[in-house]
Amino acid sequence: MLLEVRDLYVEFRTRDGVAKAVNGVTYAVDAGETLAVLGESGSGKSVTAQAVMGILDMPPGRITGGEVLFQGRDLLTLKEDARRTVRGAEMAMIFQDALSSLNPVLSVGDQLGEMFVVHRGMSRKDARAKAVELMDRVRIPAARERVGQYPHQFSGGMRQRIMIAMAMALEPALIIADEPTTALDVTVQAQVMELLAELQRELAMGLILITHDLGVVADVADRIAVMYAGRIVETAPVHDIYKAPAHPYTRGLLDSIPRLDHKGRELYAIKGLPPNLTATPPGCPFHPRCPRARDVCRIDVPPLYPVSEDRRSACHFWEETIDASPS
Ligand SMILES: Nc1ncnc2c1ncn2[C@@H]1O[C@H](COP(=O)(O)OP(=O)(O)OP(=O)(O)O)[C@@H](O)[C@H]1O
Ligand code: SF4
Ligand SMILES: [Mg+2]
Repeated sequence: MLLEVRDLYVEFRTRDGVAKAVNGVTYAVDAGETLAVLGESGSGKSVTAQAVMGILDMPPGRITGGEVLFQGRDLLTLKEDARRTVRGAEMAMIFQDALSSLNPVLSVGDQLGEMFVVHRGMSRKDARAKAVELMDRVRIPAARERVGQYPHQFSGGMRQRIMIAMAMALEPALIIADEPTTALDVTVQAQVMELLAELQRELAMGLILITHDLGVVADVADRIAVMYAGRIVETAPVHDIYKAPAHPYTRGLLDSIPRLDHKGRELYAIKGLPPNLTATPPGCPFHPRCPRARDVCRIDVPPLYPVSEDRRSACHFWEETIDASPS
């Protein structure tokens, strides 16, 4: 296994108390595989990714338990300089907002080239040639002419391509893309997503794709992990989830995807708000919003029940949830 996150816990000290942002997350990604991580705002998708990458703000953040095994090594026990080498060369991250992730006062050629100068000891001239090659690869038109330009001279979609080029420059084994297309126009979103999926296949990288959008996931992901209140509530191969979710929260997410054939109908929205992470409700954290909740749900925390060999659901009533799906 390329990456295994095991029983990870992260909390933040805030003025309102301790926010338990990640509560025992376990997930895995293999080489060449795409894992989509889904869930509403605040469910812990980014914080988990930051802990994996080693870029969590500490303080106020604190990792209070778990392991992050990358190619068998626990990254959480590495010293910061060893960690830095892994980051960039072996795993890289793509963020939503390229403009604040790229350096505004360096040309894109210098930023891309820097990777090869620092990590590969290349001369400036060779690094520049590499930068042009990478820009071609992410299909930025007229790369040779534009290599000296600055980030603000590119459109949003082109900047996102530059960030993808930065991430894959050293051909890392793992890429984490945190809402890589959210800030873009809808048509550009699809193109950027397609490019990312294509490069991932070509280089057989592991990809963790964090997104709100179950719609894009169907085309690109192999597996899905659904997060709620800092926990994984369902994890399964993509086709299983689309066929019949095994958790009422996943059901709610699926029902809130806009569909062309349902034009004009009102979109379903999951009722209520995500829990306050400084005071998560007892029992199943989803119970205040769950249409299937019973008494037991208010008392017993559901474990991740094995639904099948490669599928888990944290719902006491996962069987009836699957059965309730229209076939
Ligand atoms: N630096 C921080 N200080 C305090 N709390 C934080 C900090 N970063 C994250 N949190 C808390 O951790 C929780 C999980 O945040 P996270 O960013 O992982 O959510 P997310 O699932 O990525 O949401 P989104 O879809 O909005 O990006 C949030 O409730 C947030 O308030
Ligand atoms: S355990 Fe109960 S409250 Fe939680 S998702 Fe399942 S049915 Fe709903
Ligand atoms: Mg996030």
